[in-house]
Amino acid sequence: MTIRPPRLGVCYYPEHWPEAAWAEDAAKMAALGLRQVRIGEFAWAKIEPAPGAFDWAWLDRAVDTLGAAGLEVMLGTPTATPPKWLIDAEPDILALDRNGRPRRFGSRRHYCFSSRSYRKHTERIVEAMASRYGAHEAVAAWQTDNEYGCHDTTRSYSPEAARAFRLWLAERYGDVDALNTAWGAVFWSQTYRSFDEVDLPNLTVTEPNPAHVLDFYRFSSDQVISYNRLQVEILRRHSPGRRIIHNGMGFTFDFDHFALGRDLDAFGWDSYPLGFLDIGPFSADEKRAYMRQGHPDLAAFHHDLYRACGNGRWEIVEQQPGPVNWARHNPEPLPGMVRLWTHEAIAHGADVVSYFRWRQAPFAQEQMHAGLERPDRAPAPAAAEAARCAEEIAAVPPPETAQARVALLVDYEAQWVFETQRQGAAWSYPRLLLDWHGAARRLGVDVDIVSSGSILEGYDLLLVPSLPIAPPALVGAVKKSNIRAVFGPRSFSKTPHFAIPETLPPGPLQDLLPLKVVRSESFPRDHRERGAFDGVPVAGQWWLDHVETDLEPLAATEAGRGLLYEASGVHYFTTAPEPAFLTRLLRRVVAEIGLDVVDLPEGVRLRRRGGLRYAFNYGAKAAVLPDGVAAPDADLLVGERTLPPAGVAIWRDRS
Ligand code: GAL
Repeated sequence: MTIRPPRLGVCYYPEHWPEAAWAEDAAKMAALGLRQVRIGEFAWAKIEPAPGAFDWAWLDRAVDTLGAAGLEVMLGTPTATPPKWLIDAEPDILALDRNGRPRRFGSRRHYCFSSRSYRKHTERIVEAMASRYGAHEAVAAWQTDNEYGCHDTTRSYSPEAARAFRLWLAERYGDVDALNTAWGAVFWSQTYRSFDEVDLPNLTVTEPNPAHVLDFYRFSSDQVISYNRLQVEILRRHSPGRRIIHNGMGFTFDFDHFALGRDLDAFGWDSYPLGFLDIGPFSADEKRAYMRQGHPDLAAFHHDLYRACGNGRWEIVEQQPGPVNWARHNPEPLPGMVRLWTHEAIAHGADVVSYFRWRQAPFAQEQMHAGLERPDRAPAPAAAEAARCAEEIAAVPPPETAQARVALLVDYEAQWVFETQRQGAAWSYPRLLLDWHGAARRLGVDVDIVSSGSILEGYDLLLVPSLPIAPPALVGAVKKSNIRAVFGPRSFSKTPHFAIPETLPPGPLQDLLPLKVVRSESFPRDHRERGAFDGVPVAGQWWLDHVETDLEPLAATEAGRGLLYEASGVHYFTTAPEPAFLTRLLRRVVAEIGLDVVDLPEGVRLRRRGGLRYAFNYGAKAAVLPDGVAAPDADLLVGERTLPPAGVAIWRDRS
C-alpha cells in the first residue's frame, strides 16, 4: 500500500436524502476539502428490499455521483442491519442476551455471530456487493459491518452459540476429561461426561465457574474474528488493491482487536470524546473539568491502541462533530475542539479523519446527533473547523510515525479475566490503562501500544498495567531484550485455565523478580493505602498484594507493607498507584533510558509524528508552551506558543 498524506472524510447516507440533493452534497463536501465519503453500512433493506430482489440502481448512481465529485468512496457491508424479511424468515439469526431474551428487530446489530443462517446470508450479501462494486474506480476502501460488539453484542447466549461453543471446546480440549481438569470441575460437582452436556455460562444460580466463563469469552471473541474473516475473504477476491478496514469503538474489550487487525489493512475507530467522557470511567471532577473537551488522554489512548491493532495503519472512521445523542448528557464541544481532535488523530498517525455525519438526520433514532450540516442544510459549526483542518493539513503534510521508545502492553484477555473475577468493585482495567498511558503523556513521552505477543525490539521501557495471564515467552523476551519493565498488580496471577499458579503469583515473573504474592485484598474506591516513596507521600488504590520477599520495597505503607519493588530493572506495584505515584516512578525510569521529560501545563499534551511536534490544549485556560518543549525560536507552522483553550500548535522538531 502506498503512503499518502492524511485525508479528511465524512459519513454519508444517500438513502436518507432525495436523490436530487446528492450532487450538491458531494460538491459541498469536496469544497470543504473532504476527500473520502463512507456510505452503505446500514442500507441492506434498500439494496435487497425483498429476498433475492436487488435494487442496485440507486446505489450505482450514488457511488457514481460521489466519485464524479472527486471523492473516494468507502463502502460498508450492510451486515449490522439485517432486514425484517430476513429475520422473519430465519429467526435463529437473533442473538439472545444473558437472560435468554431475544435481541429483537427494530434497531441494529440484532444478530448472533454463531448463527449459521446469518453467516450464509452474510456471504450472499457481501458477495453481491463486492462483485458489483469491487472494481469500481471510485471505490477505494471497504468497511466490514459496523462496530462489532456495539450495544453489548459480542456475546450471544442463543442455541446456535451453544452449539458452536461445544464444537470450540471439543477442538480445544480433545477429550472432556481434559476440560474437567482444566476447569476444576470437581468443585461443586460440575463434572461433564461429554462436550454435549456443556451449556453456556448464563442463568446459573450463583457465579458460574470462572474457567467456563473465560473460555466462553474467548470463544465469543473468536466468533467475531471468524465472522469478519468470512467477509474479508470475499472482499479481497472481488476488490483487489482496496483497503479493508473495520471501525472499532472506545472502551471496547469484548473481542481481541489485535487478532481482528491481522485480517485487515488498517483499523478504524469511532472517536466521540464527549460521549465517552460522560459514560466512561471518569470521576465527577474530571467530567466537569473536561465536559466540552473530552479527557486529555482518552482519544490519544485509543489512537495509540488502534494504531497497534492496525499494525501501524489506522484511521478515524467517525469523528464527533457536535453534541451526540447517546450519552447521558450531550454537551456541545468547545469551539475549536473538532479541529483539535482532528489534528491530534493525525499527530498519532491517522491516515484519514472522517466526520460522523454529513447532515444531521431530522428523523429516527439519531435526530439529536449533530453533523457537519444542520437538518436545514445550513453548515453546523464543525464544518468550518473541518475546512480549516483541511487547509492546515495540506500546508503541513506530516511524515511517517516513528516507533516510540516506551511501550504499553494492552491485553484483551486481561479484561475478560477481570470481568469474570473482579474481586473488588473499584478495580477497572480500562481506567488502569488510561492512568498508565496518561502518566507517560503528562511527562511529554510518546507511547506505542503493544500486545502480549509483540516483539519488544527497539523499546527501552515496557509498561504493563496488569497482565493476569501472561504468555510464558514474555519473561524470556524481557530478559533477552534487557528492557526496563514496570508491572502492575495482578500480573501473572492466573494460569491459562484460570487457576492460581502453583508457585503463586507472579508465576514465572519470579525468575526476574524474587517475590511471591501470598495474599491480595481489595478496597472501596475512595480508600487509599498511604505510604512514602523517596520520602514523598504517595498512595495506592483499589488493591494490595501482600508479598514474601527479601527485597526492600522502594515504597511502603506506614504499616510497612511494600507498594513498589524492583530487581534488575523490573518494577512491580502491589497496588494500583495513584497517578502522582506512577508519575514519580516514571520520571525516574524514563530518565534512566535517556528520554527528556517535561512538566506540561494542566491539560496540555504533546505528540511527535516523524519530525513534527504537536501540542494540544485540553485545559480551560490559555497555556504557554514551556521552553523545554518548544525552543523559544522554534518555527511554528500552525498556532502560537500561547495555546488558547482548544488550541493546537505544530512545529518542526530540531532534536
Ligand atoms: C457510532 C455508530 C454510528 C452512529 C454513531 C452515533 O457508534 O457507528 O452508526 O450510530 O455512533 O454517534
